[in-house]
Amino acid sequence: MTQAPQKAPYTTNNVGNPVESDEHSLTVGPDGPILLQDHYLIEKMAQFNRERVPERVVHAKGSGAYGFFEVTNDVSQFTKADLFQPGKRTEMLARFSTVAGEQGSPDTWRDPRGFALKFYTELGNYDLVGNNTPVFFVRDTIKFQDFIRSQKRHPATGLRSNDMQWDFWTLSPESAHQVTWLMGDRGIPKTYRHMNGYSSHTYMWINGAGERFWVKYHFKTDQGIDFLTQAEADELAGTDADVHRRDLYESIESGNAPSWTLKVQIMPFDDAADYRFNPFDLTKVWPHGDYPLIDVGRMTLHRNPEDYFIHIEQAAFEPSNLVPGIGPSPDKMLLGRLFSYPDTHRYRIGPNYSQLPPNRPHSPVNSYAKDGPMRYEASNAARPYAPNSYGGPDADYGQFGDPASWETAGELVREAYRLHSEDDDWGQPGTLVRQVLDDAARDRLVSNVTGHLKADVSRPVLDRALQYWRNIDKEIGDRIAHQVNGG
Ligand code: NDP
Ligand code: HEM
Repeated sequence: MTQAPQKAPYTTNNVGNPVESDEHSLTVGPDGPILLQDHYLIEKMAQFNRERVPERVVHAKGSGAYGFFEVTNDVSQFTKADLFQPGKRTEMLARFSTVAGEQGSPDTWRDPRGFALKFYTELGNYDLVGNNTPVFFVRDTIKFQDFIRSQKRHPATGLRSNDMQWDFWTLSPESAHQVTWLMGDRGIPKTYRHMNGYSSHTYMWINGAGERFWVKYHFKTDQGIDFLTQAEADELAGTDADVHRRDLYESIESGNAPSWTLKVQIMPFDDAADYRFNPFDLTKVWPHGDYPLIDVGRMTLHRNPEDYFIHIEQAAFEPSNLVPGIGPSPDKMLLGRLFSYPDTHRYRIGPNYSQLPPNRPHSPVNSYAKDGPMRYEASNAARPYAPNSYGGPDADYGQFGDPASWETAGELVREAYRLHSEDDDWGQPGTLVRQVLDDAARDRLVSNVTGHLKADVSRPVLDRALQYWRNIDKEIGDRIAHQVNGG
């Protein structure tokens, strides 16, 4: 027996007053002018005009879900962070994204994918804002803005420009590892569920005894790695531009919760000084043969947000959200990012963004912060200053053990990292091409690069690009040159 629909609630304005009509403005007679006193009409128009916050300056198009992280292996000898203690289960939020495209751009454009995680730990939020690649295009924060502008739209044409992209990449040889990755199969994952996530950066872990370690995170997809060919991606961009958003939402909705296994590479603190690669250089990996993967736990995404705007658009991930037991490293990109994200959130969402549902910690906030636009939670400090004699919060980090720290000294300089014995820009991408890819993957790499270079790349950028590929691998470079030159 079908049930009669329940009577719908009455419509109100934003403060709960019943409104007179959902369909008709208030007018002087049926054909007359509309009236300023139609407060509900004006509220509707004004609210609509303010529905958007600015999109993220990068990673604008994304999708996300809530889930949990469970520890499956004891790594307490490396970190005291509560979310990594044996038996622990921690609520979390994940957001996946493309980088260069705008809000409405296709999910299947060739681009790295963001892999941003927020863990609601006992001592506040821990954010790990990584990508689906273990490396990045540049190694100094001061080049990030230029890099991004080269990937976005041309100022005159408003079009994306392969010429700008290759111009920047070929003038920045440190990009070679990430570009090789991007042009290969993993440059277009089949779905967000079929890709790995990496911290990319090196972080510090500190254990209960105050011992320090360097760590890199690898979230391996339990769905298996899978990718789209360029032709499949191009077609989907036209027929189902939101395919990855749809896939994530529908998988979770149907009870098919995706999961990832977290493994870490651990480097003893003192190894860093003379390891063969600079362990803080974001354009390099630590080969697994040097530092093998160690199991930590599993992350599962099982709950779609009930409101996309509130939970995903207003989510604010920030690498500066660190908890006792985890700290930054001397990576010049990571240190810049610690400033950048809270700054952009104050602009993009507003200064009280941390009170919003996706950003609010699940643990006490004993901050002296107060007031500001849209603040709705009272400061819980009895007096708005420290120290005070009325029982206000008292900073005592000592009770949480040693903070992250390392020794440093020297003149103030603007210089590249000191080179370690095997540091160069071409070696690791060359290894990827020669030792990791198989013949079919190498063929697709050549085809992807050729297609990209043939579209709108002018000389001398094109000549530099061909040399760039020969520097990565002579044979691959020759094959690309042959095809670009019409062979
Ligand atoms: P390994 O043989 O131990 O690891 C190779 C890695 O390459 C695996 O993690 C594998 O990921 C990944 N991989 C497989 N196919 C591709 C692809 N098409 N594009 C990108 N990555 C792929 O070698 P090493 O650790 O000595 O590293 C060799 C090279 O592998 C590096 O120079 C780097 O380019 C790449 N790599 C290294 C990683 C590291 O952290 N050491 C991580 C990822 C890549 P999976 O296990 O998921 O199949
Ligand atoms: C988003 C800056 C490098 C991963 C962003 C945003 C900014 C930014 C301003 C927008 C944030 C927002 O509006 O919410 C920078 C700077 C970098 C840098 C200055 C270098 C110095 C990186 C690197 C990674 C990365 C190396 C990955 C390892 C991400 C991700 C997002 C993002 C995943 C999207 C977060 C989300 O889903 O909300 N970045 N970024 N960024 N960045 Fe970076």
